[in-house]
Amino acid sequence: MTFNIKNNVYWVGKIDWELERFHGYEYSTHRGSTYNSYLIKEEKTVLIDTVWGPYAKEFVDNLSKEVDLNKIDYIVANHAEPDHSGSLPELMRHIPDTPIYCSKNGLKSLKGQYHQDWNFNVVKTGDTLSLGNKDLVFVEMPMLHWPDSMLCYMTDDSLLFSNDAFGHHYASEFMYNDLVDQAELFAECIKYYANILTPFNPMVTKKIKEILALNLPLDMICPSHGMIWRDQPAQIVEKYLEWADDYQENQITVLYDTMWNGTRSVAECIAKGLRESDSEANVKLFHLEKRDKNDLITEIFKSKAIVVGSPTVNRGILSSVAALLEMIQGLKFKKKRAAAFGCYGWSGESPKIISETLEKAGFAMEDEVLKVNWNPDDESAQQCIEFGKNLFK
Ligand code: FEO
Repeated sequence: MTFNIKNNVYWVGKIDWELERFHGYEYSTHRGSTYNSYLIKEEKTVLIDTVWGPYAKEFVDNLSKEVDLNKIDYIVANHAEPDHSGSLPELMRHIPDTPIYCSKNGLKSLKGQYHQDWNFNVVKTGDTLSLGNKDLVFVEMPMLHWPDSMLCYMTDDSLLFSNDAFGHHYASEFMYNDLVDQAELFAECIKYYANILTPFNPMVTKKIKEILALNLPLDMICPSHGMIWRDQPAQIVEKYLEWADDYQENQITVLYDTMWNGTRSVAECIAKGLRESDSEANVKLFHLEKRDKNDLITEIFKSKAIVVGSPTVNRGILSSVAALLEMIQGLKFKKKRAAAFGCYGWSGESPKIISETLEKAGFAMEDEVLKVNWNPDDESAQQCIEFGKNLFK
């Protein structure tokens, strides 16, 4: 499948309806994804990015139906991660001398991954590539989200090829933002932001402001994943500015794992207390072993505070809780509060471990942790409710 986007610009990517996991097994993709590759056929013919390696042959076959491969003058590799560069080895087998434009870090990354001495041309912010009567202008975006990431802007047509930025893992044959279910679209956008871009919030804000200051006309944003933003493309830019500003909603999320339901009972009591003391807050409760970890990260991203619990096991915490805490630490959330709890039989280290880990991750911790011996009886259940009532005052 290929389709025309505007004038002489075509989408030549791959819709991956089957994708369930991304970044290895690290990121769940409940709605599949797309790898967007774009073909510009002006006086010069330019290919922007490719698709993931498993689809390389299909991609090159389709591309060769759209254009004589030997007529491709330039390839732009906005980002070297394999979901966009993975078809380069197959493509370059056909056109080994075609120049590849990438950032300085893109060169290192592409060479490091493919060990090929292709015809690389390093570009930096402000460099242009003439298409004839129009230009491609390059803007580096280091750490958004890899050191090599960059975008390019096509003058006259006013198309921004933003690569991962403004993308989302969402498969649809519609391929435009105004044609798909808006709730699904924005659920995938915020999940993508929360799980991938949160650590880089300051850089997101700075880079967007730098680009906005150029006052470029913008007709469409063409990301490398998901739908093309042709209807009010600025709306996703505004969302990014909002999310990058240490985003939170009036939500408190209780996350726990449990062995024999003691910690679950405590979690439910804490949630009851939270609801009683803050009736406007959206209190949500998740047995984290039963939920998708990336969806939970999105819930944490939306929260003003979290309460995390685990029973004590082998003087530690359950592995599911440890895994989530590891993800939380890497994402560097800011301006969020947290508390810890857990049941125990004989040693009871778990709340302290959780509290110390969350504090290290940048959360403002409540002074008290809640430890409950064995399962809560009526009296200790009431104490758990009171604990919830007194949180985050
Ligand atoms: Fe879509 Fe960073 O790769």
